[in-house]
Amino acid sequence: MNFEIQKRALSQVIRDDLDALIVLWPSQDTALVAGKDPIATLVSAALAHGDFEHKAGAVLSLYAHPGIQARHLVVACIAEGTAAQVRSAVSAAWNALKSANIQRVGVHAVADLSAPALQAAALALADASYSYTSTLSKPKPRSLKKVVFSAQAVHAELRAALAHAQALVAGVEVAKEWGNRPANHATPTLLAKAAKSIAKGTAFRCEVLGPKEVTQLGMGAFLAVARGAAEPLRFIVMRYNGAAAAEAPVVLVGKGITFDTGGISIKPAAEMDEMKYDMCGAASVLGVFKALGELKPAINVVGLIPATENMPDGLAVKPGDVVTSMSGQTIEILNTDAEGRLVLCDALTYAERFKPQAVIDIATLTGACVIALGAVRSGLFSSDDALAQSLQQAGDVSGDACWRMPLDDDYAEGLKSRFADVANVAGRQAGSVTAAKFLQRFASRYPWAHLDIAGTAWRSGAAKGATGRPVGLLLQYLLDQVGKKPVKAPAPRRRG
Ligand code: BES
Ligand code: MN
Ligand code: ZN
Repeated sequence: MNFEIQKRALSQVIRDDLDALIVLWPSQDTALVAGKDPIATLVSAALAHGDFEHKAGAVLSLYAHPGIQARHLVVACIAEGTAAQVRSAVSAAWNALKSANIQRVGVHAVADLSAPALQAAALALADASYSYTSTLSKPKPRSLKKVVFSAQAVHAELRAALAHAQALVAGVEVAKEWGNRPANHATPTLLAKAAKSIAKGTAFRCEVLGPKEVTQLGMGAFLAVARGAAEPLRFIVMRYNGAAAAEAPVVLVGKGITFDTGGISIKPAAEMDEMKYDMCGAASVLGVFKALGELKPAINVVGLIPATENMPDGLAVKPGDVVTSMSGQTIEILNTDAEGRLVLCDALTYAERFKPQAVIDIATLTGACVIALGAVRSGLFSSDDALAQSLQQAGDVSGDACWRMPLDDDYAEGLKSRFADVANVAGRQAGSVTAAKFLQRFASRYPWAHLDIAGTAWRSGAAKGATGRPVGLLLQYLLDQVGKKPVKAPAPRRRG
């Protein structure tokens, strides 16, 4: 799907050859006069009859209207034109068109759009028109090929926002594709192949380690999770270098559990299928690299993905087993279903070698985070106030929001173990925080943040599917870092 933006008046756009025209209508007065302009005439009549209202997402839809070249016309109210309002207007407009076979759509802004609002419009259209096809015998691929935005005034900032949106959509769709694939079509091996092929297509380096190398590295926690799986583990290392080699990279670490049965601490059957989404953190890292490869910003980024299934088996790790992580810390595995933190902790130790300016891990880590924050905001945990603030801001700007959660040391009490340096679970209370406290022990040597995306990475129910979050947040954060002098990392603290 391709985006374009043109400077055009509505009087021109209504003569354009399009399958559908979406007109974004503001609440405030426009320069278009009822009686003179055909669409203003329609809107004013509909307003008078109560068939249209000045509320974001209200739509007025017509077919084969004389004087309008496009078969479909949808006028959608954007109220004050905030990014969120534009998003809901565009989604509502696409809903009104959904059944139609639409390949070329025009989106005309009657009032000036801000850059974030334009980006929100592009993303909302991509999201609404997305179609999963990979494992269907008679797939219905997306019909939409071209979106032509138009407005009275088009400046450089809007063009840049649309280029950003184009790359972001490509990244989001990589994340959706790999999230949605069933686990037998998204094994660690296939995930690694996907990383390699994205790297090839967009020119960055990708190295894949297997069980032998991971054993040599001493990643005892990661290996403990992989023990029960017949599918071999993969550790994927991606390196995008857009800036000088001396510039410290941002490291992204994505949880890549391609299926989470819980292991010996097995999960109940209901909705267990959704645990194919337990690699959405990894998928978001692949998505970010896809977008970086297209946008080529001047920044260095490393992507790390520990990928394995979590399975019950004769060889599987057992509750009570003690393993030694790559950091040297021993871990008592009291619950094999708390596997995400085990694969992540070794990846966090591996990240030290890049002398990063920041490390951000992204994981469908806890059911408790879904209870705390639902599907609206991802959980954000960070030991670094500046990093937390940048991420929260990037989330708000991109419409892919997160919310900071606490990390008081008192929350780590329950992780104490008599048989190892740390246990992998604490009690039932504050489950997303205790999980983060576990990770924090392995992330003391650089500014670190953790995003728990258990509630935001996919939707359940009738509209089940990966959302592609938090690719938008991460890409926005990375682009915000371009040209910024990274604040010098604090002197490494010794582990206690
Ligand atoms: N992948 C799950 C977390 C999860 C569960 C995400 C449900 C989305 C929906 C994770 O590996 C897990 O099983 N976590 C446990 C931790 C517990 C054993 C301390 C959980 O949240 O129940
Ligand atoms: Mn689990
Ligand atoms: Zn899991």
